[in-house]
Amino acid sequence: MPQAVVMKHVILITGTPCVGKTTVAKALTTKLNAQYINLTDYAKQNNLIIEEDPERCTTVINEEAMQENLGATIDASENGTIVIDGHYAAAVIPEEQVAQVFVLRRNPVELKSFMEKRGYSGSKLWENLQAEIIDVCLGEAVQFHAGRVCELDATGKTPEQVVEEIVEVLEKRISCRVGTIDWMGTLEKEGILDQYLKPM
Ligand SMILES: Nc1ncnc2c1ncn2[C@@H]1O[C@H](COP(=O)(O)OP(=O)(O)OP(=O)(O)O)[C@@H](O)[C@H]1O
Ligand SMILES: [Mg+2]
Repeated sequence: MPQAVVMKHVILITGTPCVGKTTVAKALTTKLNAQYINLTDYAKQNNLIIEEDPERCTTVINEEAMQENLGATIDASENGTIVIDGHYAAAVIPEEQVAQVFVLRRNPVELKSFMEKRGYSGSKLWENLQAEIIDVCLGEAVQFHAGRVCELDATGKTPEQVVEEIVEVLEKRISCRVGTIDWMGTLEKEGILDQYLKPM
């Protein structure tokens, strides 16, 4: 007898490095009794890294192979709900498998302090802060998964509060919003935009 095809509920948690993806994604996984996939670990375990750039502490991954592997992993999963965590998640998950994309956002002032605590400095710190200011992850999420993207401001919130908001969206108790965050305007009003857009 052919096996029944089970529709998977794939939830992506994306956002700029250090924004709090892993903390939130793991708590959400527990809450939903889901399967958790961290893309950084997944790339290492499946030999999908093309190049390491130790100077900027970044890695280049084989996106095509990653998409193929992930598609197969999702299909083979015995769990109906899968939470995928990674800053390039939106680009590598097959569109037809994604139910919802959550882009975590954080005010650059707070994000900078999170990054410094994690030991970021120099060009790595400023490049990633600028990526948050110009909405890089949001743009990528919308490019690949238009209509299924929610932007959540995690600034000043506990991971539990962010998870609660995600659950409210999943249960359709609150609507999904995109384009409500304007860090450039926020920083400009505070007179500190120049400090954050300084050349590297
Ligand atoms: N809501 C929060 N409030 C305070 N601290 C937090 C919160 N969420 C995460 N953190 C802390 O911020 C740091 C970054 O969090 P986390 O590792 O979850 O981010 P990430 O987006 O997964 O980072 P990366 O892109 O490097 O994987 C950690 O030290 C974590 O403990
Ligand atoms: Mg992480």
